[in-house]
Amino acid sequence: MNIRPESSGDFVAVRAILREAFAGDDEADLVDRLRNDGDLLLSMVAEEAGQVVGHVAFSRLWLRHDGQRLPGVSLAPLSVMPGHRRHGIGAALVEAGHGRLRHAGESIIFVLGDPAYYGCFGYSIAAARAFDCVYAGPHFQALVLTSLAPKAGAITYAASFDGLA
Ligand SMILES: CC(C)(COP(=O)(O)OP(=O)(O)OC[C@H]1O[C@@H](n2cnc3c(N)ncnc32)[C@H](O)[C@@H]1OP(=O)(O)O)[C@@H](O)C(=O)NCCC(=O)NCCS
Repeated sequence: MNIRPESSGDFVAVRAILREAFAGDDEADLVDRLRNDGDLLLSMVAEEAGQVVGHVAFSRLWLRHDGQRLPGVSLAPLSVMPGHRRHGIGAALVEAGHGRLRHAGESIIFVLGDPAYYGCFGYSIAAARAFDCVYAGPHFQALVLTSLAPKAGAITYAASFDGLA
C-alpha cells in the first residue's frame, strides 16, 4: 500500500471511489467543490498495485471565539473501495493525514462519523462538546493536536458543505 497526496491525475479515480463508497454523487461533488474553492487543505490517496483504492479529504474550517477567528480542520469524507476494505487502508489514510497536519502546525480536527471507528484515532465526543456547530451531536468528534488548540467556539465549515445533508 502506498499513501500519497493526490495529484490532478487522480481526480477521476477519487470521484469514482467516492461515488462507489457513498452510493451517489454528493460526496464526490463535495470534494470537487472544496478543491475548486481552494478549501481542500489535504487530499490523500491510497494505492494498491498502482491502483487508487482509497481517499481522504481534510478541509479548512473556521472557529470564532472571544472575537478571534481561528483555523481548524475538517476530516471528510473518508472512503475505501469495497473490495479493499478491512485491510487498514482507511486507518493508514487517516494516520498519514494526521501526521502531515500535525507537522503543518494544525491544532484541531473535527469529524462527523461513528465514534467506534474514529475513537481509534483519538477523536472524542467530549473534545467537540464545547463547540457550536450544525453537526453537533452524538457523532460529532474532535481530535486535539496541540495544547494551543481552541477549547470552544462557533464552527463554520467551508461553503462547499452548505446544503449537504
Ligand atoms: C469507513 C471506511 C473508510 C473504512 O475503511 P477500511 O479501509 O475498511 O478501514 P480499516 O481497514 O482501517 O478499518 C476497518 C475496521 O473499521 C471498522 N469500521 C469500518 N467502518 C466502520 C464504521 N462506520 N463504524 C465502526 N467501525 C467501522 C470495521 O469493522 C473494521 O474493523 P474490523 O476489521 O475489526 O471488523 C470504509 O468502510 C468505507 O469507505 N465506508 C463507506 C464510506 C464511509 O462510510 N466513510 C466514513 C464516513 S464518516
